[in-house]
Amino acid sequence: MTGLPAIRRIDLTLGGGVDLDDVVGRDDVIANWWKALETRSLRVTEPRRFGKSTTLKLMASRPPAGWICLYNTVQDASTVERLIELTLGMIQEHTSFSHKVRQKIRSFGQAVGPKVEVQKWGATFELAADFRKTPFHAFEAALADVHAELEKKDQRLVIVWDEFTDCLKKIRDSDPVAGPHQAAETLSLFRALRERVCGRRIRWILSGSVGLHHVLRSLPNAGSVNDVDTVALGPLEPEPAKWLARCLLLGQGRYDEPRLAALLTKASSGIPFVLEHMVAQISASGVAPATEEEAQRTLTLAADAMDAGEAMVPLLERIRTYYSDDDWKAALIILDELAAKPRKLSGLVERMATKLGREVDEEWVRSITERLVEDRYLMFDRPALRYTWLYGAFRGIWHAKRRLE
Ligand SMILES: Nc1ncnc2c1ncn2[C@@H]1O[C@H](COP(=O)(O)OP(=O)(O)OP(=O)(O)O)[C@@H](O)[C@H]1O
Ligand SMILES: [Mg+2]
Repeated sequence: MTGLPAIRRIDLTLGGGVDLDDVVGRDDVIANWWKALETRSLRVTEPRRFGKSTTLKLMASRPPAGWICLYNTVQDASTVERLIELTLGMIQEHTSFSHKVRQKIRSFGQAVGPKVEVQKWGATFELAADFRKTPFHAFEAALADVHAELEKKDQRLVIVWDEFTDCLKKIRDSDPVAGPHQAAETLSLFRALRERVCGRRIRWILSGSVGLHHVLRSLPNAGSVNDVDTVALGPLEPEPAKWLARCLLLGQGRYDEPRLAALLTKASSGIPFVLEHMVAQISASGVAPATEEEAQRTLTLAADAMDAGEAMVPLLERIRTYYSDDDWKAALIILDELAAKPRKLSGLVERMATKLGREVDEEWVRSITERLVEDRYLMFDRPALRYTWLYGAFRGIWHAKRRLE
């Protein structure tokens, strides 16, 4: 890890978007992702508010020599055309591509009246009517040109689609009959595209707080992202987390307090968003924890404050929409049980049967538990053969939010 900068005042943003110059502790993970991109495309899943978008934007803002990285959030793209338009728009606006390539891409589009910049990282681009029926043709042709230019200049391109799971779900839900087929087809066509025109020069990063597996299992053909490797972001390491805690405390007009920063680092599991809310709690109450137990109490109070101010939508709100009613109820029971203590699968099955007042299928409980593992809320502790919450801070927040005993 590279050295940390000197301690300085940093203001709380509480989810409002951190200044990229204030982001530390992500160099190693970004370096690992660049290395992995040499050989394959990637998908990143971590729970909500973990720092995925921040890290990806940081990555896009400082690519290593020879790489171009285009970031966009595709959460609101509810059709394949829109997804392709967003992507072509990004390429067309990026100044490192030659005038010729950008002009060529523009030729797939049409004038769309007064341009509205949808978002800072986005671009306005609309496919011409002819291509709206066959958007993949336009996309493939455009990418072939981009590829040729990358080849000539010996460069490589990474396209980041943040919140891709939401986009795919919207395509799936656009029509009860055709939607699932369109979503499956989108995945297969993108896979074919990766194989046909992207070669080693164009890679993708698909990111989201909800694992793609939730949507994949509901599609007629689920195997189309097998060539994309899953990578984790993880929390901040203790040293950068402590650095951030000290800076945030200074930003609140407090003195430099390394001991308090260490307590906050541990209780927050190194998740910057949680850390920020704990510092906000200390600042608002004027009470700083002096022990690990007191730091847990600060976490609980911070969790309450997050909800009261609706600064944090419910921890698993987005994930909820990916479960059927029955599965969601079961997921709640699993998360509640594991918030109290780690358990073996057999223990979870037993508790589920008691709570639901009926016999339950072990495979059903296993599949829901494993989905929560894939979304990185839970983990399987192999030596102990027990499931447990992956991040202690999220366990604590869940415990507080659900008013568990
Ligand atoms: N390295 C960091 N340093 C300081 N603050 C950070 C860092 N990473 C994240 N944050 C804080 O956490 C907030 C959430 O980060 P971000 O939006 O990147 O998370 P996310 O995983 O993309 O969340 P979501 O799943 O809701 O899209 C940021 O707005 C910022 O306040
Ligand atoms: Mg995000």
